[in-house]
Parts: sequence; C-alpha cells; structure tokens
Amino acid sequence: MKKIVCDNYEEACQAAADIFAAQLEKKPESVLGLATGSTPIGLYEEFVSRNEKGQMDFSQVRAFNLDEYYPIKANNPQSYHAFMEEHLFSKVKFASTRILNGESPDPGIECARFDAELDAAGGLDLLLLGIGQNGHVGFNEPADSYPLGSYLVHLTEDTITVNSRFCEDGENLPASAITMGMGQIFSAKKILLLITGESKAKIAKKLFEGKVFTDVSASFLLLHPDITVVLDKAAYGD
Ligand code: F6R
Repeated sequence: MKKIVCDNYEEACQAAADIFAAQLEKKPESVLGLATGSTPIGLYEEFVSRNEKGQMDFSQVRAFNLDEYYPIKANNPQSYHAFMEEHLFSKVKFASTRILNGESPDPGIECARFDAELDAAGGLDLLLLGIGQNGHVGFNEPADSYPLGSYLVHLTEDTITVNSRFCEDGENLPASAITMGMGQIFSAKKILLLITGESKAKIAKKLFEGKVFTDVSASFLLLHPDITVVLDKAAYGD
C-alpha cells in the first residue's frame, strides 16, 4: 500500500487528480470507477477545471459508479445520479457513464445487468473510493461476509444518520442501497482511496493497524496489489 499524506483537503484532491491524470495519459480510454459523498467533491472540481484547461480529457472514458440508494428516483436530489450530474457529468464529457438504477423494479436483475456491463467493459482500470466512518467502501456495510458482485444491502443506522447531513428538512434517505460487491472492487487494476477530514481519523488509524477485520470492508483493501491511499493531515491524525 502506498500512502500520500497531504497538508490539507485541497492538496489531497490535487494529489488524487494527478493519479487520475497519469492514468488517462497512459490510457485515454480507461474504465474508471467513481464514488460520491463529500470526499470527492474537491477532486471533481479539479477534474472540471483541468478538463476546461485541456489538461485532462475524459471523452474516451467509460465511468461506472460504485453505488446508489434503493429505491430512489434518479431525479431525487439525494440520489447519486443527481450528485454525479451536479458535480461532474453535466460539466465534463465522458464516453459513457453508468450508475446502478435505484428505480429498477428488480434490484437483482439490475445488479446482474450492471455486473455484465462492467465485465464487458473489461473491468475497472482505476477505482476511486471514499471510506465510511464505519469502514465501509461502496456500501459494503459491516458484515460477516460480502458478496463479490453487485447486491442490494440494508444500510446501517449509523450510515443513514451520517449521510442524512445532506438532507433538507423532511427528507428521508432510503434504508437500502445497491452497491458494487467486494469482488468487483478488488478486481480493479488500481485503487485510489481518498480519506479526508477529522471525522475519518479513527477509521484511518484502524486501517493503518495493518490487519484485516472481517467487519471492516475497507481493511480487505490492504491485500490489494496496487492501492494508493491519499489522506489529508486531519484524517491522518496529525
Ligand atoms: C459513495 C460511497 C461511500 C462513501 C463513504 C464516505 O459512493 O461509496 O462509501 O465513499 O460513505 O462518504 P463521504 O465522502 O461523504 O464521507
């Protein structure tokens, strides 16, 4: 595992953007895995700005997102479809984008379809991950075992509480989500885990104990052959 500790959030986003830029330089038609949440917002701003300046070109990139709430309509402001549209997809041209469909009447069929599309694309070249305070990656919530492919997962109360910070008064998040499974995450050729902010210091410390905990899906990433963790000092506990 490679670790890059940056002075602050902005620098962490730039360091992460540099890794994506190097990937696109090497393979302009990369298949990228993307995350949502507060962590990647600054990174996506960096993508938009570098794209406007002609420094990063995503026009041949096929993007697959990690997860989506279920059930949720794509036009619900809390959906990850809406998030990606607002922060990236409406501003930067991609060859294609794919997010698990929270409106599908049958999540099992939707997951199988998504997995087949990801396989047909040749799998992920570079996957961006954030981490939940409970150690989840994607929505692989603490469990005794994790499916390899995409699946419907019941969210923990903790995750719903933490993620409700984005909700307006009266809005409720769905209690479930559909997420890439640990097999798909693990088969990404390269992984970039971005950890920022003081609220992640505890889980970052646990990760750097260097042990695999069955109930911390992020800890399995320690076994990945090509993972870079980019942190700011606040998350590194400095
Ligand atoms: C989002 C995702 C989640 C988040 C995690 C951290 O697509 O898969 O695992 O990365 O919940 O969220 P933030 O960045 O909001 O702290």
